[in-house]
Amino acid sequence: MVELIHDPAAMRERVLAARMAGRRIGFVPTMGALHAGHMSLVEQAAHDCDDVVVSIFVNPTQFGPHEDFERYPRTLEADCRLLEAQRIRWIFAPDRVAMYPPGDATRVVVAGPAEPFEGTIRPGHFTGVATVVLKLFQMVPAHAAYFGAKDWQQTRVVMQMVRDLAVPIRIVVCPTIRESDGLAMSSRNAYLSASERAQAVALVQCLGRAEDLWRAAVDVTEIELAMQETLKRQGIAVDYSAIVDAESLTPLRPTSDAVALVAGRAGMTRLIDNRLLPAR
Ligand code: PAF
Repeated sequence: MVELIHDPAAMRERVLAARMAGRRIGFVPTMGALHAGHMSLVEQAAHDCDDVVVSIFVNPTQFGPHEDFERYPRTLEADCRLLEAQRIRWIFAPDRVAMYPPGDATRVVVAGPAEPFEGTIRPGHFTGVATVVLKLFQMVPAHAAYFGAKDWQQTRVVMQMVRDLAVPIRIVVCPTIRESDGLAMSSRNAYLSASERAQAVALVQCLGRAEDLWRAAVDVTEIELAMQETLKRQGIAVDYSAIVDAESLTPLRPTSDAVALVAGRAGMTRLIDNRLLPAR
């Protein structure tokens, strides 16, 4: 039976008691509106751990003033039903006051991998993410936390924070789950109209093109241009398309593992995706 917990202190007590009993705890932080991508994280956590906690909290501090915080889908009942069918032990759904008590004045600022790309386009976004993730890690002191590779930059930021602040948790990055035409699953896909949904497939096409050209040893600047073209041809307003060092997100060095990153808008909806590129 899954237990729904709202109170951070109660959540922490449950996890600490389970740890004392020798159980291994896996944690999947989410903002709800769960889809197959989230469920794959839950499955991996259930495979690796004895008990799984899924948190559901739409975090206001990671949204910019003109972003979609108000309209972000909130589907707690449906999410709970979906999770009840899985082998998880706790759903943690704190409210805003529990996460940001009156007088709250502390933020976690990550530099390095938080600075380019999403960090430039969405100022303050990763400060909001790092802050809420650190708070959640205090409330859910699990052995391991599971994040999707779709938000590649977010995984780098969380790993940097955990390393720099010596947070005792293992970060596990799980593969992106895709629709049948390749579109990366995202709660924001629900915003897309039929025509925008058709356009959105340009992101995965652009990554496919990037990989083909990369394998053919084409110069990175040319690949980035080809990526942009693929997006623009389908009417996507491009925010960035780049190939960078997969860990630091800085320009490639000869020893780098490479990642292709892409972001753009179909209508009003922002979409991001990425692909790790093979060694060449
Ligand atoms: O990836 C998300 O859903 C969010 O950024 C996270 C990690 C739950 C923090 O609010």
